[in-house]
Amino acid sequence: MTTQVNDLQEQLEQLRSNAQNAIAQCQNLDDLESLRVNYLGKKGQLSQILRNLGKLGPEERPKIGAIANEIKEAIQNSLQQQRETLQTAQIEAQLQAEALDVTMPGVYRPQGKIHPLNGVIDRIIDIFVGLGYTVASGPEIETDYYNFEALNTPEDHPARDMQDTFYLPGNKLLRTHTSSVQIRYMERHQPPMRVVAPGRVYRRDTVDATHSAVFHQVELLAVDEGLRFTDLKGTIHEFLRQMFGDLPLRFRPSYFPFTEPSAEVDIQWQGDWLEVLGCGMVDPNVLETVGYDSEKYTGFALGLGVERFAMVLHQLDDIRRLYSSDLRFLNQF
Ligand code: DAH
Repeated sequence: MTTQVNDLQEQLEQLRSNAQNAIAQCQNLDDLESLRVNYLGKKGQLSQILRNLGKLGPEERPKIGAIANEIKEAIQNSLQQQRETLQTAQIEAQLQAEALDVTMPGVYRPQGKIHPLNGVIDRIIDIFVGLGYTVASGPEIETDYYNFEALNTPEDHPARDMQDTFYLPGNKLLRTHTSSVQIRYMERHQPPMRVVAPGRVYRRDTVDATHSAVFHQVELLAVDEGLRFTDLKGTIHEFLRQMFGDLPLRFRPSYFPFTEPSAEVDIQWQGDWLEVLGCGMVDPNVLETVGYDSEKYTGFALGLGVERFAMVLHQLDDIRRLYSSDLRFLNQF
C-alpha cells in the first residue's frame, strides 16, 4: 500500500474520531447542525479529504472510497443518535418548565350568604310588594309618643304592661314594636297608602329558646276609603298561602290598643295551632291622631314576628341559633 493510501486512511480515521468526539460533546441542536456541515457538508472536512482521491491509483480508489463511505455513515449515525438524544432532552426540559400541578390547592374564596332572618324578611316583603305594598322604615330609638301614645296607648294604659320596655335617658326608649312606623309614615303621607315596615324591636324579655330581647318584626299598614275587615282577611289569607302553602288558619278575637276590632291569626302547623301574627282595623283614634278624617278613611294593620316565621319555616328549636354567627348553622341556608 502506498503512503498516500495510508495517509488518507489515517486522515479519515482521524476525521471519524474527531467528529464522533465533537458530536458526543455537543449540547444543542444548532451546534450539532454546524458540526454536520463542518464534517459532511459539500465543503466539509470529508469532502476536502476525498478531493485527494484523484491522486490515487485506480485500484486504491475504491478501497478508500469504501472506507470513506463507511466513515460517512458512521458519522451520520452518530449525528442522528445525538440529535435524538438532544431532542428528547429538549422536550423533557420543556415539559418540566411548563408543568402544571393539578393537585395544587386553589385559592379559597369564602362566599357570603343571606342570613336566614334576612331571607325570611325578604320573602315576606316580596309577597307584599307583589300585592302592591311599598317598604317603609323608622328609627329604633323612639319616643314614648310614637311607640305608645299615638298608638292609642296613653300612660297608665294597662296595655303598656304587654311589652316590657327598655327606657333610655331623655324620654327616649327602644321601640317595642314596629307599629311606631305606622304613625311616622302617616304623619308624612296622605291616604291611600299600603306599606310594610320591617325592623328590629326590643323588649325586656329573659332570653331563652323562644325569647330574645332583640328581635324582628314586619309591620303592615293600609289606609284607604272603604277598607273593611274582609280586605284584611283576604290579604292575610293570600300572604300566609304564599308563605306556608294551603294550611288551615283561623282568626281569633284579640286586643290591641291601636286596632278595633283586633285579631290574632293562627296556622295549623304539624298538628298544632301556631300564632303567627296580630292584626286589626286601625282604631279611628289613631287615624285622628295623625289628622286623618276617620269618617272618610279606614285602615287595617298587622304585625308579625320574623323569628317565629324563621323557626317554623326552617324547623329551628332555639331562637338563639339565629344570633350566634355560628357558620356550621348559617351554612345550611
Ligand atoms: N305591635 C303588636 C306587637 O308587637 C303587633 C301588632 C298587632 C301590630 C296588631 C299591628 C296590629 O299592626 O294591627 O305585638
